[in-house]
Amino acid sequence: MRIAMREVCLCCALATASALGCGGDKSAPPPSPPPAAPAAPSTPAAQPATAAPAMPAPVVVAPDESGVVHLTAADQMRFSAGRINVKAGQPITIELKNIGTLAKEAMGHNLLVLKPGTDPMAFAMKAIAAKATDYVPTDGADQVIAHTKLLGPGESDTIKIASLAAGTYPFVCTFPGHAAIMNGQLVVE
Ligand code: CO
Repeated sequence: MRIAMREVCLCCALATASALGCGGDKSAPPPSPPPAAPAAPSTPAAQPATAAPAMPAPVVVAPDESGVVHLTAADQMRFSAGRINVKAGQPITIELKNIGTLAKEAMGHNLLVLKPGTDPMAFAMKAIAAKATDYVPTDGADQVIAHTKLLGPGESDTIKIASLAAGTYPFVCTFPGHAAIMNGQLVVE
């Protein structure tokens, strides 16, 4: 009998221990796996290895049926076109009109056609001191093919060039501070 009781008790003890063990497991369930981290936002595909954004193509103008190239300049400090296409050996007429409203002393405009190869920025630097001559520098006269006068609001001027040989001729406004934006190319073909 004692042995049997002992066995029973042993069984009880084992059962109790087992129950406790199970209870312990239930009171502290293994932590559920953490939710998956949200997927990182997909990065856009790498852009093609192009250089800096290309400059927008310049507005191109050509002589109208009367042979006149019309350009305007405004208070936004821009010419209406960045490229003029003309034919070699033909008379060239360019009319520039200042359609702005700001005073000439603050926002005057002119247009100088320069010889091929002339650096318009370097030329404009020389022109800064030439206020008395509408910012057409006398020490750069040999680089100037033709130029308008300095125009205030509403004013216009026309330049006529007998003809030009094929080539690319820079044009620029030499009012101080304008040349970096107000420039373009007269392309003779
Ligand atoms: Co200007």
